[in-house]
Amino acid sequence: MKVVSLFSGAGGLDLGFIQAGHNIVWANDVYDDAVATYKTNIGNHIIQSDIHCIDSTEIPDCDLIIGGFPCQGFSVANIKRHSQDTRNSLYKELLRVIKDKKPRYFLAENVKGILSLDKGSVFSMILKDFSAAGYNVKYKVLNSANFGVPQKRERVIIVGVRKDIPYNFEYPEETHSEKGDDGKLRWISVSEALKPFPDPDTLNNIPNHVYSKYKLNFNGYMGHRPLDPNKPAPTVTARGDNKGGVVILPHPNNQRRMTCRELATIQSFPHDYYFCGNSSSIYRQIGNAVPVKMAYAIAKQFNLIQNESN
Ligand SMILES: C[S@@+](CC[C@H](N)C(=O)[O-])C[C@H]1O[C@@H](n2cnc3c(N)ncnc32)[C@H](O)[C@@H]1O
Repeated sequence: MKVVSLFSGAGGLDLGFIQAGHNIVWANDVYDDAVATYKTNIGNHIIQSDIHCIDSTEIPDCDLIIGGFPCQGFSVANIKRHSQDTRNSLYKELLRVIKDKKPRYFLAENVKGILSLDKGSVFSMILKDFSAAGYNVKYKVLNSANFGVPQKRERVIIVGVRKDIPYNFEYPEETHSEKGDDGKLRWISVSEALKPFPDPDTLNNIPNHVYSKYKLNFNGYMGHRPLDPNKPAPTVTARGDNKGGVVILPHPNNQRRMTCRELATIQSFPHDYYFCGNSSSIYRQIGNAVPVKMAYAIAKQFNLIQNESN
């Protein structure tokens, strides 16, 4: 499919779509380092600009619009979350572009916390908005560990199918489960995933294999808990823009933080995916991303649609 990508960041979601055979024809993000990363690994079709400044006529026609709109205003991890948060307006930008371009399908990704914001009223409003824009909409919470990602990251995946298209989108079948005793593969643990990497303090030429020396302090808060090496990692998070703190998980040896490369592996980026910027910018780009393997599993479902409509 011809795909337009909004809020593309470092390209986790887009890479999954490319791996599944789709063609990203245009992408956008405001964050310079993320755009540099995207250009280095994916292509020059990304435009660095605030989405508010882009007229829809500048965006090419496409079959599918994808976008993980920034979620801090929506996140349960954000104590000050509130439906009046101005960052929530970014979803309206996604809606504007969908309304103007009228693609056959769209996919919007977000944190699970969006479902409960203001007792669910924000999410109902979003679903109503998409329906009024002419789409049959469905949504599902997917846990990336169930798709072979060494991380228990849960995300809401909203899919819209234009109302004139008689197609019932199906979410991907889970390939992994916690114990792997139900015909599926067992969850991938964080220590298994990080096995290939040498100690970053020894001589190595692995890209982005550097870590924050910020002292570990296990105080029970998010990102400050010892990691269980035998389980998938907890959710890697970051603020969506280039400000504020980033949660950098400890390495499973619980003696230092993960390197950027290790954190990228927890998000299932390929080992040669190169991230631009300083370490905190890189940690942030990684924390913002959709795990590539989960993106790929979802993207493959859009191949089924295309096959059926051919
Ligand atoms: C959740 S991240 C998306 C990550 C991406 N889908 C991936 O898988 O790597 C949201 C992105 O929205 C971008 N963003 C925030 N405000 C923006 C704006 N006004 N215009 C364009 N992009 C914006 C942020 O820079 C961030 O990269």
